[in-house]
Amino acid sequence: MTTQTETLDLSSEAFLREPHAAYKQGREQCPVYRVPDQNVVMVFGYDEVLEALMKPKIFSSKNEESILGASVYNPKCQEIYEKGWPQVPTLLTNDPPSHTRFKKLVNQAFTRDRVAGMQDHIEEMADSLIDAFIDKGECQFIDQFANPLPCQVIAEQLGFCEQDIAKVKVWSDAFIDLIGTEMTSEEQVERATRVVEFQHYMKQCLDERRTQPRKDVLTDLVNARVDDETPLNEAELLNVAQALLVAANTTTSHMLSGGLLTLIDNPEQYAKVRDNPALIPNMVEELLRFQTPTQGMWRRTSEDTELGGVTIEKGTMLMLLFTSANRDDKYFTNPDHFEVDRDFSTAHVAFSRGVHTCIGMMLARQELVCAFRQIFKRLDNIRLSENSPRPQYEANLIFRGLDQLNITFTTR
Ligand code: HEM
Repeated sequence: MTTQTETLDLSSEAFLREPHAAYKQGREQCPVYRVPDQNVVMVFGYDEVLEALMKPKIFSSKNEESILGASVYNPKCQEIYEKGWPQVPTLLTNDPPSHTRFKKLVNQAFTRDRVAGMQDHIEEMADSLIDAFIDKGECQFIDQFANPLPCQVIAEQLGFCEQDIAKVKVWSDAFIDLIGTEMTSEEQVERATRVVEFQHYMKQCLDERRTQPRKDVLTDLVNARVDDETPLNEAELLNVAQALLVAANTTTSHMLSGGLLTLIDNPEQYAKVRDNPALIPNMVEELLRFQTPTQGMWRRTSEDTELGGVTIEKGTMLMLLFTSANRDDKYFTNPDHFEVDRDFSTAHVAFSRGVHTCIGMMLARQELVCAFRQIFKRLDNIRLSENSPRPQYEANLIFRGLDQLNITFTTR
């Protein structure tokens, strides 16, 4: 029975930092919740999230507003953007049938074999990051491990030279800021400059791949051909590279740091998996369910419809809350408990489902498994540093990530 609850406060900083109690209340009282006085609906229940994901024609991902946010209305930014390439909808903000073409072409670059072949190299990268701090017995885990690892992996796959890897984070953060942060005109101009800088850098990498193909994602994107689909043009290739850069970094970093904190907070579960590394792949699934770094995604209804017994008018914005769905006790027993050996008879939705299922999910899983395998192999007694305050989640509706994670450890 669905009844509209009166008491959910979804805008406070407290909710944005720690939303699970409100999500639980939402699932119990009103899995499809209309936010009072707004044309916005929050979807808390697993069934309802899944139903919306499986009907992309009605629950559309199209977003008329540019991925560059309010900066497109800033004349100084417009001048800068004219020196680059136009933003075209390809994946996240697109619908079938146009989306299908991009998905088919981009999926060619993320095959199971390619990802499996990267295992040793990812472990080497994780190892050399650990080498840099292991003798100190402490580290700033986000700066020294959780951020650089996904950056290095995606930078290599997009063909960055080694000395330019540091730019990945700067460019990726510039896109994230433009999508969701209120900024001054000067800040917008700074981010817009980064966008065009990234485009010119990528354009050079694309040209090089055409004459000197390599075994990387970028070469496969340039050469991707499926059925009789038109190959990706310059602006489309740049947009896809941009999507991969942004999607691959924040999510995987947040998963590594939030994952480690979850292990520290659950010492018996940590000991169980440390003593039995065969559990690592299942632990990663459980971390994805328990943490769910992409908390939710927007959809807009393209016609009048109904979801979970609630009538929804055309043009309504819906936030599909993957984080909440992944704690629905209809499908996950004891959902607020972290259990490394959980039996997944129902799959979590941390990578979404349906046409927008995450393209990088195999790569993300590989990175997480490799990273935790090396951490367990080399570090022990991982604890929060006594000198630092308790890490907090950032106040963000879409991305769930920690502000800092300073740890101490012994070596194994
Ligand atoms: C733990 C890490 C990750 C998580 C939790 C995650 C989560 C997600 C989710 C929830 C979506 C779907 C959004 C929707 O339904 O609207 C998505 C889409 C996407 N992800 Fe990931 N992702 C991760 C890592 C990656 C990586 C490593 C890459 C690239 C190498 C990547 C590339 C993409 C792309 C391109 C899309 C758009 C797919 C489409 O719209 O068809 N992601 N991701």
